[in-house]
Amino acid sequence: MRLDQFIATSTELSRKDAKRTISGGRVHVDGEPCKSANTKIQAGNRVTLDGEVCTLPGERYLMMNKPMGVVSATRDSDHPTALDLLPPAMARNLHFAGRLDADTTGLILLTTDGQWSHRITSPRVNCPKTYRVTLSDPMAEPAVRELERGVLLRNDPTPTKPAQVRVLGDRLIELTISEGRYHQVKRMLAAVGNHVEALHRQRIGKIILDSTLETGDYRELTRDEIESVT
Ligand code: URA
Repeated sequence: MRLDQFIATSTELSRKDAKRTISGGRVHVDGEPCKSANTKIQAGNRVTLDGEVCTLPGERYLMMNKPMGVVSATRDSDHPTALDLLPPAMARNLHFAGRLDADTTGLILLTTDGQWSHRITSPRVNCPKTYRVTLSDPMAEPAVRELERGVLLRNDPTPTKPAQVRVLGDRLIELTISEGRYHQVKRMLAAVGNHVEALHRQRIGKIILDSTLETGDYRELTRDEIESVT
C-alpha cells in the first residue's frame, strides 16, 4: 500500500491532506522522516504521524493466557487451537504473533495486523521474550553462566544469543531470550544437561501477561501495549 493511502486509511485525513502531511515532514516510517507519498508500506513498517503510531482501522490485537494442550496455529488436525477459544466472529482473520508449543502455557498475542506481528517475530528485531521455566534438576551456577553466554543447540551450528537468567528457586528460573528458534528454551536447557518440566511465557517485549487472565482467557490490548511494539 502507498504511504498516502496508508495515512488516509488510518486517519481521518483525505488523500490530498495525507499527501500534504507527508510532504510537510510529519510522517515517519520506521523512525525516519518520509516525504514521498508513493513509498510502499510493507509488513513490519512502523508508520507515525506527529509521533502517533498509525494503524489501519478494524485491526484487532489480543492477548491470551494459553492453556496446556492447545496449539498456536490457525488449524491443526490433532489438537484444539487457541482460536477455538474465541467467539468465531472475534477469531476471524486473526493470526499469532509468535507461537508456543502445545505443552507451553502463558502469553500469546493474536492480531489481524501483519505489520505489527512482523515486528515481534522478525529475527532482525530481537524482541525479548521471558519464560518461567520449571526444571527437573537443580540449576547449577556454571549452567546459568553458559546460558547467559550462549549455548550450542543440537543440530544447529550457531550458538544462541546471550540470555538473561534469574534463578527463582532450586528448580525454577526465569529466562529471557531474544530469538525464536524451534523449541528454543527446551533445547537450551537440554544443552546444559537439564530438562524442562513446565514452561510458561510471561512477557513479550514490554507486554506482560495480565495476571487477572485465567487460563484460556483473553483480552484486547491497550493502546499503550499496541504502541510499545516498535
Ligand atoms: N521455547 C520452547 O522450547 N517452547 C516454547 O513453546 C517456547 C519457547
